[in-house]
Amino acid sequence: MIRTTILGLGSYVPERIVTNDEIPFLNDQHERCDEQQTETNDAWIRTRTGIEQRHYVDNDKDVRTSDLGVEAAKAALADAGLEAKDIDCIILGTLSPDIHFPGTAVFVQSKLGIDGERGCACYDIRQQCSGFVYGLEMADAFIRTGKYEKILLIGAEVHSHSLDYSTRGRDVMVLFGDGAGAMILGKEESDDERSGVIYTSAGADGSGAMNLYLKVFDIGKRPYVWYDANDREQNEIKYPQMNGKRVFLQAVRNMVVSTNEALAKTGLTWDDIDWFVPHQANLRINEAVAEYAEIPRDKCLNSIMWYGNTTAATVPLTIDHWRREGKVKKGDLICSTVFGAGFTWGTAIFRL
Ligand code: COA
Repeated sequence: MIRTTILGLGSYVPERIVTNDEIPFLNDQHERCDEQQTETNDAWIRTRTGIEQRHYVDNDKDVRTSDLGVEAAKAALADAGLEAKDIDCIILGTLSPDIHFPGTAVFVQSKLGIDGERGCACYDIRQQCSGFVYGLEMADAFIRTGKYEKILLIGAEVHSHSLDYSTRGRDVMVLFGDGAGAMILGKEESDDERSGVIYTSAGADGSGAMNLYLKVFDIGKRPYVWYDANDREQNEIKYPQMNGKRVFLQAVRNMVVSTNEALAKTGLTWDDIDWFVPHQANLRINEAVAEYAEIPRDKCLNSIMWYGNTTAATVPLTIDHWRREGKVKKGDLICSTVFGAGFTWGTAIFRL
């Protein structure tokens, strides 16, 4: 029986670190100023979210989401002992694409030097913070059906260029960071139901769509993108808007249900699973999920403290972070649950 196996893992964050103390001093180009620009502070951010710092791309260079994705992909390929030309499908999740269209996966393909007339399939998926688990479900289905044999799955984001650095946008702005993570998925012949990708699920509730959104592109507008720099109200379309409390509650509820369902359907228990790696939106969300789903605290891995919310990249970034720290090892059984705009959610259980 064909099963999906994880051949490689990699991640990348830009060098620039922005601490909570620095955040109030950033202008709308995220340049450091002498004068405080925004009413926020380390204590508020740390207490409400657990975030201590995040990484941003430099604003003096033309670094795009695809560039971060390429760096993570190269690390994952090296980990797998493969070359880019071995890949026959790219799936990329992001909410910060290089441009509106074409999708960002084709830019990654080109930058990896595997474009051309016989270039591999490139998919972009738009499931925000749930992008990586949605992508894993898709990759698993492609491999099990024999459609593709070596899939490069990427989650990559450059948030720093599209945040509202004024006090108006502080609730969203302090949460996000730039980064990318990647996995190489391949096939193995095995009847062991506890090898490779064991379980995936994905769900969505469109009634929550307008609780977290960015309307910079709006098909209802003529032309689609309309912007008057002098109109402060209209400026809102440039930045993400969020109903934080609703998102928080729905995140906890759906992540608990999705995780418990995954265990019930696979027959696995927390004795079998080595690590719970939830999406990194807010440390308080993850603590609540762990409490309600009765997940042993020493099995919960977080990284939001150092990277903020990197949306589609959080799952591979967190696993790779803790692998570098020597905690996560090849062969460990991981349960990842995600929640994001849409609302969307999902759970995957896999052996690294
Ligand atoms: N710094 C300082 N004060 C801030 C602030 C900031 N960055 N952001 C908001 N505040 C203020 C608010 O204006 C409000 O002030 P007021 O009481 O004078 O009106 C106060 O802090 C409380 O705001 P509130 O929105 O009630 O805070 P909260 O406890 O709900 O925390 C979030 C806000 C955003 C941290 C929280 O709602 C959250 O994490 N939600 C989920 C977000 C998320 O996960 N998004 C990604 C989904 S994948």
